Amino acid sequence: MVSRKLGVGVIGTGVIAGVYMQNMPMFAGIELRGCADIRPDAAQAQAAKYNTRAMTVDGLLASPDIDLVLNLTIPNAHFEVSHAALTAGKHVFSEKPLCTTVADGKRLVAEAESRGLSLGCAPDTFLGAGGRLARAMIDDGKVGKILAGSAFLMSHGMEHWHPDPEFFFKPGGGPILDLGPYYIGALVNLLGPVAKVQALSSIGFEERVVTAAGPRTGDRIKVQTPTTIIALLQFAAGAQVTLAMSWDVHRHGHPAIELYGTEGSLRVPDPNFFGGDVEFTEAGGDWQAASSASMAAGKPNWRSPNWPPTRPDQANYRCLGMAELARAISNRTPHRSSGRLALHVLEAMFAVLQAAETGEAVHVGTPIERPASLSEADAASLFAVS
Ligand SMILES: NC(=O)c1ccc[n+]([C@@H]2O[C@H](COP(=O)([O-])OP(=O)(O)OC[C@H]3O[C@@H](n4cnc5c(N)ncnc54)[C@H](O)[C@@H]3O)[C@@H](O)[C@H]2O)c1
Repeated sequence: MVSRKLGVGVIGTGVIAGVYMQNMPMFAGIELRGCADIRPDAAQAQAAKYNTRAMTVDGLLASPDIDLVLNLTIPNAHFEVSHAALTAGKHVFSEKPLCTTVADGKRLVAEAESRGLSLGCAPDTFLGAGGRLARAMIDDGKVGKILAGSAFLMSHGMEHWHPDPEFFFKPGGGPILDLGPYYIGALVNLLGPVAKVQALSSIGFEERVVTAAGPRTGDRIKVQTPTTIIALLQFAAGAQVTLAMSWDVHRHGHPAIELYGTEGSLRVPDPNFFGGDVEFTEAGGDWQAASSASMAAGKPNWRSPNWPPTRPDQANYRCLGMAELARAISNRTPHRSSGRLALHVLEAMFAVLQAAETGEAVHVGTPIERPASLSEADAASLFAVS
């Protein structure tokens, strides 16, 4: 049972903050109590829109009614902000990636554990209906033991939709650190830890021109991190998965994640979203669809203004992982989208970059357990009763 709500303070009120601040009242056990940004006008605008206090970063960290800092700053600020929040005695839930070096990731996990604080990190999409359904099918042996698979995220970049896309093209960004957490995180939830990787990488375009509307339209950004990465992931449990992440591709036709088991094949919904159909085959039979739309956190509820009219709506239950963390604090149980899981994914992503740079296979250090599966009843109970 949840005894009291965790007071949440948002640091970083840019593009993604709106969805979090809008979704927060939908969940049990968490309550928005304030927001802050190094741009005070940005914090004030979001505070006015979502009926909360605009604060300074220091003021928010010193505020006794804030129990948890939701870190929605850019990746290069994640360590500094999460570390400051932990040392101020706050629990932390951070957007991905956990931070931009493995050493800093280890420091954050150690800091939280030594203080008895909870550190959580996106993505939490694997706790959505599509991720839970895929996990249940694997755990139930629907397609047998997974032998191999593929994961693809390919598009033509971020500069056409994000008003300040600089960070995507600098070290700490790129498709592997920006979007790898969804795909590698989903795979680790399904298959367990990554043991070893091999990879190749390239920069398809030396420069990007910002075409998104805003103060940076027309700016030229020098690309300083790989924008195409093709990797092979060896999972400790035996499966071998091809991972392709690129912002140099105009169009492709690969499903987000396919897994090939001893008894059949499985298509996992795009882990960038919370819902979606899981498809499976019985041995060499046709694909059959299993919908997750009637499950908790499965309904399409959000339409990106950046999508073409032909694109279906997607489920977006951002805050789900933070609500699960709040429940775990109250129940004194481990939470699922944890700092340790995010650290393992960070290590795997840096191993991919290192393997691409050196041409050598790279072992992934920190072993972890898969997070416990989340039942339908427990997922449903994370929503506020209206
Ligand atoms: N935009 C998306 O659709 C999206 C989706 C999923 C996850 N994310 C993740 O969310 C995070 C934020 O992305 P965004 O698109 O909202 O970026 P953004 O640039 O729009 O917003 C980041 C905000 O953080 C503030 N900030 C930067 N450093 C700070 C500091 N030290 N202290 C306080 N505030 C600081 C900036 O002023 C800015 O308002 C990133 O980690 C990104 O990977 C974004």
